[in-house]
Amino acid sequence: MTEEFSIRSITVDDVLHVFKLVNHYAGLAQMLPKSQNQIYQNIRDFHAIVDRNDRIIGCGALHVLWGDLAEVRSLAMAEAYQGKGLGSLLVNHLIEDARALRVPQVFALTYVPDFFKNMGFRLIDKNLLPHKIWGDCIDCPKFPDCDEIALIKDLTENEGALV
Ligand SMILES: CC(C)(COP(=O)(O)OP(=O)(O)OC[C@H]1O[C@@H](n2cnc3c(N)ncnc32)[C@H](O)[C@@H]1OP(=O)(O)O)[C@@H](O)C(=O)NCCC(=O)NCCS
Repeated sequence: MTEEFSIRSITVDDVLHVFKLVNHYAGLAQMLPKSQNQIYQNIRDFHAIVDRNDRIIGCGALHVLWGDLAEVRSLAMAEAYQGKGLGSLLVNHLIEDARALRVPQVFALTYVPDFFKNMGFRLIDKNLLPHKIWGDCIDCPKFPDCDEIALIKDLTENEGALV
């Protein structure tokens, strides 16, 4: 982490900001929308990258689905801060979070597969993901016609990889 930026959990005071950041890109069809309700109810999943004045410049969430699988979701960097390696820093932080929880695989559903490939994720057929992951999707405006691309990253050398 550079001196200029740090990563922290979000608080209820940050929810509106995260809501606006995510839905800015959702409005551009670059990611899926989130309601304030969804952010409040999953607030412990969310991390923010902040500048030295504690202003949020990016956010992302790690959502655990089961003992063997977690999802990186709601990843968004403010436009002025893109391309500086901060999105990668945040994803690495979420991956370390998953490792600390001893979750062996992390996946993402995304429109920017190359960013995740760059982070060591590999493409998978999203139909191979367990049905459990689609539980949250019923709130998505695109349900059931998901057009996102699925990628997964193995965090251990385990032989029992889910997919
Ligand atoms: C996708 C996003 C989070 C990446 O964050 P970032 O801070 O700009 O990314 P980084 O600077 O860490 O980039 C790391 C690498 O990924 C690549 N990359 C970044 N954005 C990319 C994109 N949209 N498509 C393909 N590659 C991308 C970069 O070129 C860089 O590669 P390099 O290391 O070879 O130079 C950010 O661009 C963003 O918020 N986009 C809008 C919302 C969005 O698409 N979110 C993803 C939803 S899952």
